[in-house]
Amino acid sequence: MNIDDVRGLLQLKVPDLDGARRRLAACVTIGDLRRLARRRLPRSVFDYVDGGADEEIALRGNVAAFRKWRFRPSVLADVASADLRTSVLGREAGAPLGFAPTGYTRMVDPIGEPAVAAAAARAGIPYVLSTMATTSLEELARGPGGGADRWFQLYIWKDRALTREMIARAAESGYRVLEVAVDTPVSGYRTRDVRNGFTVPPSVTFGALLDIGSRPRYWRRMLGAPALRFANVGGGSGGSIASITDQFDPSVTWSDLSQVRAVWPGKLVLKGPIGPADAVRAMDLGVDGIHLSNHGGRQLDRTVPPIDLVAPVRAAIGASPTILVDSGIRHGADIATALALGADAAFTGRAYLWGLAAGGHAGVVKAADLLTTQLRRTMQLLGVTSIPQLRREGPDLLDAS
Ligand SMILES: Cc1cc2nc3c(=O)[nH]c(=O)nc-3n(C[C@H](O)[C@H](O)[C@H](O)COP(=O)(O)O)c2cc1C
Repeated sequence: MNIDDVRGLLQLKVPDLDGARRRLAACVTIGDLRRLARRRLPRSVFDYVDGGADEEIALRGNVAAFRKWRFRPSVLADVASADLRTSVLGREAGAPLGFAPTGYTRMVDPIGEPAVAAAAARAGIPYVLSTMATTSLEELARGPGGGADRWFQLYIWKDRALTREMIARAAESGYRVLEVAVDTPVSGYRTRDVRNGFTVPPSVTFGALLDIGSRPRYWRRMLGAPALRFANVGGGSGGSIASITDQFDPSVTWSDLSQVRAVWPGKLVLKGPIGPADAVRAMDLGVDGIHLSNHGGRQLDRTVPPIDLVAPVRAAIGASPTILVDSGIRHGADIATALALGADAAFTGRAYLWGLAAGGHAGVVKAADLLTTQLRRTMQLLGVTSIPQLRREGPDLLDAS
């Protein structure tokens, strides 16, 4: 037996000498990305991403609500190829998936929003830039993620002139869809952040100093990067999260939404825990789509899981308006469930943020790859080969146990 035979028997694999790539390659689920993110981020930053409001009942409920569904596959259906392509609000997408808006993304990794948008562009899926982003509307449009299907999430501010200015900037910079978030008349109470003494921008507390010792790589990168700032508000100079969230207007009403509709030339989506009656009202005002969300359990605790709103909202607004859903997506099977219940696409927040923390741009790509690969396999095992078929046959494919 020569050395080649031995090698063949042992199937020796040369280990990848790039540690970051090796660690990412070892992540085979979104949960693995979360665990790697936890190892790499300071505790307070991990908790900012991971945590929910108050007792985190909504946060846990969101995930559990997807998992209560059981599939009823059909067999012998020739699933040799499964096509994930679909259309979301009139534009072709590589999969029925999108990256939801998240504030302060550069705190997770200084490459921030442009890296997330670039990963979205690679997967051919929409990316929603947050009002609370650490990259400006204009900078994102010019950067490596500029080619993504770019949407902008708007909060309506007490200062209506600032609100109108943001809408105009989004239109001028080529954002295709405006999502008005209506789940934040006031800021939710994030218990973990309060306990951790977490502030934006981060303050140098005793705990933060301990963190510097345990996560030196994170702090080296952060301290070498430009200062974090809310790039879309405060005249570009940013401000503390307290001073910014103080600008959320708790007196916003439907008439404000009408005014947004009157000035925004593109597609308009309402994002929040929207029930059937409110969804109908939004449609009457000329909204193009409903993004069902409880902010990933970060605003009103104990809200109904958004996935449970899909079927009643679909029944109320009919077959054609777009329904998007997020909050609790951790697996491609969750996306299949959302579509089978009547949604057009599912969005995720934490999955890509954990990916970003775990491996930067490559980690976000990995999160999208995991979710789409899982979705494709789920469809094939269900006996389904296209998104229209999944949506059409959805009611027969699901069984609530
Ligand atoms: C760290 C973090 C920051 C967020 N910031 C915003 C925001 O600025 N605007 C917004 O509309 N939603 C925000 N969200 C909510 C997301 O858009 C999305 O609704 C939520 O993450 C979906 O739940 P999931 O994390 O379980 O996927 C944020 C979520 C997280 C985790």
